[in-house]
Amino acid sequence: MKRETFSSGLAVFLATLGSTVGLGNIWKFPYLTGQYGGGAFLAVYLLCIAFVGLPIMISEFYIGRKTRKNAVGALQALRPGAAWQCIGIMGILSSYLIMLFYSCVAGWVYFYLFKAVKGDFDGITMASAQLQFSEVVLGPAAPIIWQFVVMAVVAAILVMGVRDGIEKITKTLMPLLFILILVCDIRALTLPGASAGIDFLLQVDFGKLTATGVLTALGLAFFKLSLAMGTMITYSSYFTANNNLYATAAKVALSDTLVSLLAGLAIFPTVFSFGLEPSAGPGLLFMTIPLVFSQIPFGNVLLVAFFFLTSIAATTAMLSLLEVPLAYFTEERKMSRPKAAVLNAGLIAAIGILATLSVDKSSLLGAYTLLDRGFFDWFDYLSSNILMPLGGLLTAVFIGHVVRKEDILRELSNDGHLKLGGLFNCYYFTLRYVTPVLLVVVFLHAVGVIG
Ligand code: PHE
Repeated sequence: MKRETFSSGLAVFLATLGSTVGLGNIWKFPYLTGQYGGGAFLAVYLLCIAFVGLPIMISEFYIGRKTRKNAVGALQALRPGAAWQCIGIMGILSSYLIMLFYSCVAGWVYFYLFKAVKGDFDGITMASAQLQFSEVVLGPAAPIIWQFVVMAVVAAILVMGVRDGIEKITKTLMPLLFILILVCDIRALTLPGASAGIDFLLQVDFGKLTATGVLTALGLAFFKLSLAMGTMITYSSYFTANNNLYATAAKVALSDTLVSLLAGLAIFPTVFSFGLEPSAGPGLLFMTIPLVFSQIPFGNVLLVAFFFLTSIAATTAMLSLLEVPLAYFTEERKMSRPKAAVLNAGLIAAIGILATLSVDKSSLLGAYTLLDRGFFDWFDYLSSNILMPLGGLLTAVFIGHVVRKEDILRELSNDGHLKLGGLFNCYYFTLRYVTPVLLVVVFLHAVGVIG
C-alpha cells in the first residue's frame, strides 16, 4: 500500500500545530506562568524554544521526512541495527506514558464541556467549584468513562487515515479553535481591571525567577512542541517533499506560543478582575475559570466556547500521540490500521485507569505510591522529566555529531532548491554545542543531581 502524505503545506502546518497546541497551552502554560512569576518565566520560555525547541524540532523533521518511516523504522533506516534506534523506542514508550495521563485530563475537559452545556456552573461559588472539581477528579466511574470516550474519539479519527482523518480534522478544527480563543480574549480584555492580568503576564521581573522556574520552562518547551515523543518524526514522515522544514518549524513554534499567550490573556485578566490568585495551580482551569466565567454577562456561552476549544486542543494533540504507535504497528508489525487503532486505544484507556484513579491522595488508588508518587505522577515524571530530556539529548547528539552534515543540508534544503545560507549554520552550531549542554543540565536536575 502506498504511504500517505498530507496534501499541502497548509495541511502540514495545521496538523503539526494541532499536535503542539494542547492542554499544554491552556492548562500547563498559564498555571506555570502564574506559579513562576509571569513575564520573566515567559522570557526564559521563549529562549528555550529558540535554543532547544527549534533545533530539536528541525532535527526530528529531518529524521521523519528523509526516511518516511515510523519512529523506530526511521532510526533503523538511518543507522541500521545501531543503538540509536533507542531514540525511536523511547519515543514510542514516552508517547504511551504521556497518553496514560493526558487522556485522563482530556477526559475531565470533555466532562467539563458536557457540564457547561448542561448549565452545571450556573451561580457557582468557590466552594461549589471546588466540590464539582473534586467530584470529577475522584469519580470513580465518570472520569474513567470520559477517558474511554476520549480514546474512542481519537481512535475513530485515526482509523480514517492521514488525509481523511488527521488532515481533515485539523484543517477544520484548528481555525475554529483560534476563533473561539479570540472570542474569549475579547470578553476577558474588556472586563474592568483586566490590565492587571496583562501586566502580570507581560511584565518581566527576573527577581521572581528561580532555578526551578528556568528548568520548568525548558521542560515545558519540550512538552509544548511535542518533542522527543516520536510524534514529530512520525508526522514529518507524512510531510510533502517540497515543504520548507525550517519555515514550518518556525511557524509552528510561533503560532503555538501565540496560542499560549492568547490563552493566558483569556485567563489572567479574568482572574485578576475578580481578585483571585493567579497561581492557583492545576485547578486554575477547572475551578477558577468556571467560577469567574459564571459571573460575567454571556459567561455561559463563553464557558462552553472555552471548554470546547480546550477539547479541540486536547484531541488534536492526542491524535499525534496515538499516531506514533499506530504508524509503528502498521509498518513494522504489518497490522491493519483499524486493528492497531482499537488495540492501542483500548490498551491506553485500560491502563490509563491507573492514572485516573491515582490523581489525588484521596483517589481510589491514591494510597498506592512509590517515593511519594502515585501512578499519575509517575507517568508524568518518567515521560516529562526523564525520557523527554534524554530523548532530546540523544537526538541532538545523533543528528549533530553522528549523521553527516551534507546529508542533513541536502534534506533541509530540499536537494539544494532552498538557499538556507547562514540559517543552516546557525541551526547546526546550536544543535551541536548549545542544545546538548542545556539538556544535560535539565536531566541532571530532573534526577536530582543538581538543585
Ligand atoms: N504539545 C502538546 C500540548 O502542549 C502535548 C504533546 C506532547 C503532544 C507530546 C504530543 C506529544 O499539550
